[in-house]
Amino acid sequence: MKIGIIGAGFIGGTLTRRLTQLGHEVRVSNSRDPQTLAELTAETGAEAVWAKDAATDADLVIVSIPQKNTPDLADGIVSARKPGAPVIETNNYYPQQRDGKIAAIENGTPESVWVSELLDAPVYKVFNGIYWKHLLEKGVPAGTAGRIALPIAGDDEVGKKAVSALVDELGFDPVDAGSLADSWRQQPGTPVYGKDFGIDATVEALAQASPDRTAEWRA
Ligand SMILES: NC(=O)c1ccc[n+]([C@@H]2O[C@H](COP(=O)([O-])OP(=O)(O)OC[C@H]3O[C@@H](n4cnc5c(N)ncnc54)[C@H](OP(=O)(O)O)[C@@H]3O)[C@@H](O)[C@H]2O)c1
Repeated sequence: MKIGIIGAGFIGGTLTRRLTQLGHEVRVSNSRDPQTLAELTAETGAEAVWAKDAATDADLVIVSIPQKNTPDLADGIVSARKPGAPVIETNNYYPQQRDGKIAAIENGTPESVWVSELLDAPVYKVFNGIYWKHLLEKGVPAGTAGRIALPIAGDDEVGKKAVSALVDELGFDPVDAGSLADSWRQQPGTPVYGKDFGIDATVEALAQASPDRTAEWRA
């Protein structure tokens, strides 16, 4: 697949490494000149591009940047992807440590719904709750005991199948976490967040989540 990645940090860089290892054609970008990604491209064979070009003609797009930077992305940044190509976003809202106050999220808009509105595209929320090093190192073949499950929230079932297949290819069990409106169930502070659960515990943790944002996760 042709995969465009916006954000080349812990998660974007990890996905660049893993997806190129799996034989995908990756275009990766950060907020600066593509030349700043020379080390990553030399290591992985990915192509570094400007962020505005990362999604062009892609079969799948991944946005992995700090939540507060989402409004800085160019208008229509994912619109040149192939028709129907899914857009994954991995972002989390860390009001106290990094992002400051985002009023819509504080008022109850799920974090990924906010991103989806800014991108003007449907998105799938996945990879937001796994530590980057585990994403890099803990993928194992399907059926392996202890395989980590990753929840996927999003609205379109066809796209969700493609995203699920990618999660499986990366070595994790995909779990359908419902619609994007339900994606608060996997946000920071929820029972599933950062836990590396298997399928059954993931399903249970998603069901136990509360939509109330705790003080720790408020600005
Ligand atoms: N770290 C984890 O283990 C982890 C796990 C799951 C989810 N997440 C979430 O995933 C997102 C990315 O996390 P991270 O740890 O990978 O962050 P990070 O290491 O700080 O990297 C952020 C990346 O985003 C790029 N970026 C920032 N603004 C941009 C813009 N306007 N256009 C294009 N690229 C831009 C940065 O580029 P520059 O270098 O040019 O600034 C950098 O490559 C965050 O929302 C985070 O909460 C993180």
